[in-house]
Amino acid sequence: MASVLKASLPSLDYPYDALEPFISQEIMTLHHTKHHQTYVNALNAAEEAYAKASSPKERIALQAALKFNGGGHINHSLFWKNLAPSSQKGGSGGVLNDGALKKAIDETFGSLDNLKKEFNTTTAGIQGSGWGWLGVNPKTRRLEIATTANQDPLLTLVPVIGVDIWEHAFYLQYKNVKVDYLNAIWNVINFEEAEKRFREAAKL
Ligand SMILES: [Fe+2]
Repeated sequence: MASVLKASLPSLDYPYDALEPFISQEIMTLHHTKHHQTYVNALNAAEEAYAKASSPKERIALQAALKFNGGGHINHSLFWKNLAPSSQKGGSGGVLNDGALKKAIDETFGSLDNLKKEFNTTTAGIQGSGWGWLGVNPKTRRLEIATTANQDPLLTLVPVIGVDIWEHAFYLQYKNVKVDYLNAIWNVINFEEAEKRFREAAKL
């Protein structure tokens, strides 16, 4: 039997309560230990079944599970790194320092505030569950905003910032008011990580 490299739940760089008051400890705990863990378990189960599958038909039947749970694992792994405790808590979350990313944001959107506005408007328009993204177009090397449905990973752009727009990411705290969640999350966006991803993607 072919050996399968198992996916595992990555640990967080901060405690579950570190993103309060913007994202509650309860949400972070459930989101990481239950939701993300479920994608990891289901991805491993699908990979195992795929390795054992003996016909194209059996392998095709597993594609949806691989895409959904593999995407869920990839997206959440990016998302945890996207976040950092806010400056109110002595962290770097929400702070965009001078550098290549700030320059690119100013060039493309005019300002960080404009980016937030455009990102939130686009992302609030997602019907059902999905993800909002700021990414780099690999051809133009410019920043673009994009959305993906369900757990589809971002394939057209290199992800710089991804925001989980599933209800499990905000409902316990923000109920149905998605836009409050979107406004709040910018206080805990890890722009240092975003800068790193941007520089790699833009080959700076
Ligand atoms: Fe999620």
